[in-house]
Amino acid sequence: MKNLLGTDIITRNDALLMLDTAEEMASTQDRHIKKIPVLRGHTVATLFFEDSTRTRLSFETAAKRLSMDVISFSARGSSVSKGESLKDTAQTICAMGAEALIVRHYADGAPYRLAQSGWVDVPILNAGDGKHQHPTQALLDAFTIRRHIHNKENRRAPKNSLLEGVKVAIVGDILHSRVARSDVQLLSLLGAEITLVAPQTLLPLDICHWNCSVEYSFDKALESHFDAIIMLRVQHERMNKGGGGFFPSASEYQNEYGLNSARAGKLGKHTIIMHPGPMNRGLEITASVADSPRSVVTQQVANGVSVRMAALYLLMSQDKDLTL
Ligand code: CP
Repeated sequence: MKNLLGTDIITRNDALLMLDTAEEMASTQDRHIKKIPVLRGHTVATLFFEDSTRTRLSFETAAKRLSMDVISFSARGSSVSKGESLKDTAQTICAMGAEALIVRHYADGAPYRLAQSGWVDVPILNAGDGKHQHPTQALLDAFTIRRHIHNKENRRAPKNSLLEGVKVAIVGDILHSRVARSDVQLLSLLGAEITLVAPQTLLPLDICHWNCSVEYSFDKALESHFDAIIMLRVQHERMNKGGGGFFPSASEYQNEYGLNSARAGKLGKHTIIMHPGPMNRGLEITASVADSPRSVVTQQVANGVSVRMAALYLLMSQDKDLTL
């Protein structure tokens, strides 16, 4: 695998290699000194054309734990405001020695364009492009679910373990979510059965081609057992561009699709509650549920560092003689 662009083009073997390598990385993160020298002297750049807390800091932490140097670029405050293109920005950063680019962009497909154009000859890691793909979020979600179903305590999952028969509900704003698309593709590739729960207005038109079932009523969906419930953020910033009108009011959305204590009380004993963040507390999830013992939101964040260490290690080591 030269690049990590999307879960639409990842193979099951590559996904398992990534998850198993992430387990190796996680085992180094219990140590007093978390830094390992495996990519010492190598440089990666983060190119963020859209805001981020988790993905950016997680990739930067992952790179530093691998002893890499990090060039950190934000479109805000850069020469992008003077009209500099993606091509010139990427070439400029590679000229400073970046050996891989981690790219978040508001435009669907921007990391694919960078990887396929030949403008730069370094691995490209997609950190989220528009409404399209978020492959490392899907990998960390798969990693978190895989650990949970095997030991319930966020401890190591067996090598090569799949998600056969695991039931996952993804609830909320599917239409604007790159996480939903990547999660459905990756989790189903690993054998999970996915149910999307959303109002029709928040489902994409091509949903019949997705590898999942659809339920419009959250309460009806909760009559089935799920191993994991992934709540999605209502993405106001993407809705406002089109003039809004996706649901009548915040309180109606909260009543119909919010995860509150009453709905959480209907979940099975071992069902975990996930959210990619950032959360709209009080809208898609109440604060008491977000902070409850069955919420694994902070485990997802911690697991994200291990997954991104694995992604960087695997992409950077393919033409180098590195041992873990
Ligand atoms: N989950 C996620 O992508 O969060 P950020 O936007 O904070 O990176």
